[in-house]
Amino acid sequence: MPLRMFCPHASYNSNALLLRRSMSILAGRIALVTGASQGIGRACALELARAGASLALAARNMDKLAEVAAEIAAIGGNAHPFSLDVSSEESIKDCAKAAIAHFGAVNILVNNAGITRDILALRMKRKDWDDVLTTNLTGAFLMTQAVMSQMVKGRWGRIINITSVVGETGQAGQANYAASKAGLIGLTKSLARELASRSITVNAVAPGFIETAMTSVLTDEQKAANALYIPLGRVGTDAEVAHAVAFLASEEASYITGHTLDVNGGMFMG
Ligand SMILES: NC(=O)c1ccc[n+]([C@@H]2O[C@H](COP(=O)([O-])OP(=O)(O)OC[C@H]3O[C@@H](n4cnc5c(N)ncnc54)[C@H](OP(=O)(O)O)[C@@H]3O)[C@@H](O)[C@H]2O)c1
Repeated sequence: MPLRMFCPHASYNSNALLLRRSMSILAGRIALVTGASQGIGRACALELARAGASLALAARNMDKLAEVAAEIAAIGGNAHPFSLDVSSEESIKDCAKAAIAHFGAVNILVNNAGITRDILALRMKRKDWDDVLTTNLTGAFLMTQAVMSQMVKGRWGRIINITSVVGETGQAGQANYAASKAGLIGLTKSLARELASRSITVNAVAPGFIETAMTSVLTDEQKAANALYIPLGRVGTDAEVAHAVAFLASEEASYITGHTLDVNGGMFMG
């Protein structure tokens, strides 16, 4: 008797299994993740490694990067740490050059490094504005430029920019941060148009409220108050953002470009 008669979900289950298996084929791809030393960047690096990609881990804290590289090695992956300060054009060029020299190419770029300097606009110093825009937006542009030409030559690529729900909604006290994240969405759409003919997709992932060091400064009361505005009723995890990034990096996402994928528990439905 066919199995399906006993198990009505057999067909779904085997399809799901096949889908999962095909999504896990990033073998042979090399991914560079900025801000891979902790939080969402670390989670993205681990998820891409699980999917079979080799990882160029980039950030300022080399000790933490070494720990992430060891975690990836422990699950049978391949990763190498590279020093990077995305607020320095020279550092970006050096990092991209070193990663390409080490691995032979960079096929997947995740622009994740980001900072906040929250304060009401009335009191915001020029430095608070410049630091956030330089790190979050200019850094992503320059890093993309640094790996773009070899991606174009390779005629395949994935660029994934980590923006934020506040880039879509705005946020009091975060004019600098929200502007940088909204800028990333415009950058994503423009690059998607420029690079489409070379089979390079450019997308953004917009996390909502994710439990990481960046949000650990909030009190439990503030977190609970924020959760009230999240239809799914809880904050998200770095792993949930990483799953979205790994999907956009996969072959299965080859017809998606210029898109901003919300990972926010329903907090904002664009
Ligand atoms: N957590 C959230 O709720 C949330 C929501 C929406 C969007 N996001 C975005 O997600 C990304 C990751 O955030 P997270 O929550 O994981 O924050 P996080 O824990 O503070 O991590 C930030 C990462 O960025 C790196 N970084 C910061 N400045 C850098 C620089 N100048 N050069 C190189 N790397 C730099 C840090 O590495 P080093 O210090 O080692 O350099 C670190 O790995 C950010 O772009 C953030 O805006 C987060």
